[in-house]
Amino acid sequence: MKQEQRGAFSSHFGTMMAVVGSAVGLGNIWRFPYLAGMNGGAAFLLLYLVLILLVGLPLILSEFILGRATHRGAVGAFKQLAPKSKWYLVGYMGVVAGFCILGFYSVIAGWSVRFLYDAVANFRVGQSYEELQAGFVAFRNTGWQPILLSVGFLGLTALVVFRGVEKGVERWNKILMPLLLGILLVLCVNSFTLSGFREGMSFLFRPDFSKIGIDTVLDALGQVFFTLSLGMGVMITYSSYVVKPENMLRSKGIVVLIDTSIAIVSGIAIFPAVFTFQISPTQGPDLIFLTLPNVFARMSGGHYVGILFFLLITIAALTSMVSIFEMMTNYMMEELKMTRRRAVMWLFGTLSLVSALCAQSQVEGSRLMIAGYNVFDFLDMLSANYLMTISGLLIVIFTGWRLSEKRLRRVFTTNGTYNNRIYPLFRFVVRFLSPIAVAIIFLSKIGLLRG
Ligand code: PHE
Repeated sequence: MKQEQRGAFSSHFGTMMAVVGSAVGLGNIWRFPYLAGMNGGAAFLLLYLVLILLVGLPLILSEFILGRATHRGAVGAFKQLAPKSKWYLVGYMGVVAGFCILGFYSVIAGWSVRFLYDAVANFRVGQSYEELQAGFVAFRNTGWQPILLSVGFLGLTALVVFRGVEKGVERWNKILMPLLLGILLVLCVNSFTLSGFREGMSFLFRPDFSKIGIDTVLDALGQVFFTLSLGMGVMITYSSYVVKPENMLRSKGIVVLIDTSIAIVSGIAIFPAVFTFQISPTQGPDLIFLTLPNVFARMSGGHYVGILFFLLITIAALTSMVSIFEMMTNYMMEELKMTRRRAVMWLFGTLSLVSALCAQSQVEGSRLMIAGYNVFDFLDMLSANYLMTISGLLIVIFTGWRLSEKRLRRVFTTNGTYNNRIYPLFRFVVRFLSPIAVAIIFLSKIGLLRG
């Protein structure tokens, strides 16, 4: 398909905002704090930082190399680079993971709209923790409310994607991402004024290594994949829309830095509040939804802080959902030869079903379970800890071992213009360090390696 038909980003800034928009999402603001809370805070943070460097950065670069080398999407890139082989199945894994993630992600995005509404209407003011919890459960138990909201959110995502790469995806990211950064800054500064500031900070920054076990390591690895949108072909697709030459290492380094800083800043915005109001940090997925409204309700100026916070989550969720939706739309256009309009409509229909199932599985007493988990938790875990890590592992192996060395060098260095000296190190990391790290963690988890 010609580049004019498939679409392209128009500027470096637009590309950067789109990539950051994909990376920064519920993963940073909802998933990172709750995982860190459950896994001992600082110890988890440290592991996460190591894995970001060892696996995250090399892998985001690998995906960018595959997309730039081919100007094709998740499945097409493999078809072009390794014809007559089964490598393209890795691309399909990404598309499947996309279904799983959008299924539960849209439900949480729907919750955030609900909380935003509550915050604006000043609805939860003066409620105790128990009342808030009961309210949240009652909301989920209605079934139809979360379903309606998540399907609505998917509709919004579909609208942005429908407008195309430049006028939809790029344009909205350029507007929303700077707004998000501004809001986060305000929240972070506000956190400094809370009495639980020191306790929250030491929870986040003073590691307790006794908390680290193989599950912690796998959770940290899964989080690295999740937060940088890796292993799904989203980055392959986005990079295939980049037509201007760029210093890839620098621009992806900046993305990783921004994404990581936002996760940490979210921690700084959240944990002091959690400790100030003596709430347990180990709640799990409900952490920000149960603790924060409670905190806002008791804080001076909490009304406005609450509105900002839920606006922040809503924006972050939208730009990430757009990236997954775009990856899948691109697949249907390129490989199934559909028009953008048809692809978007099909996806909207099928994804609405998956997301309704997820929301329904959270109703108390629901029998929508898979392998002992409700559908929602199952899809979260399946996609981040397994699908994304396995296909991510295959993507680095492909880049390090299957792609010709000449091509790898040419694309990484933009035809010899940038980073020639660092290239051998990059190649070594992609060939050996990253795949070995992922493989060890994975094998230990499934019990094939005993520590
Ligand atoms: N990176 C996004 C986040 O942190 C989630 C995401 C995963 C987006 C996979 C695209 C692909 O919320």
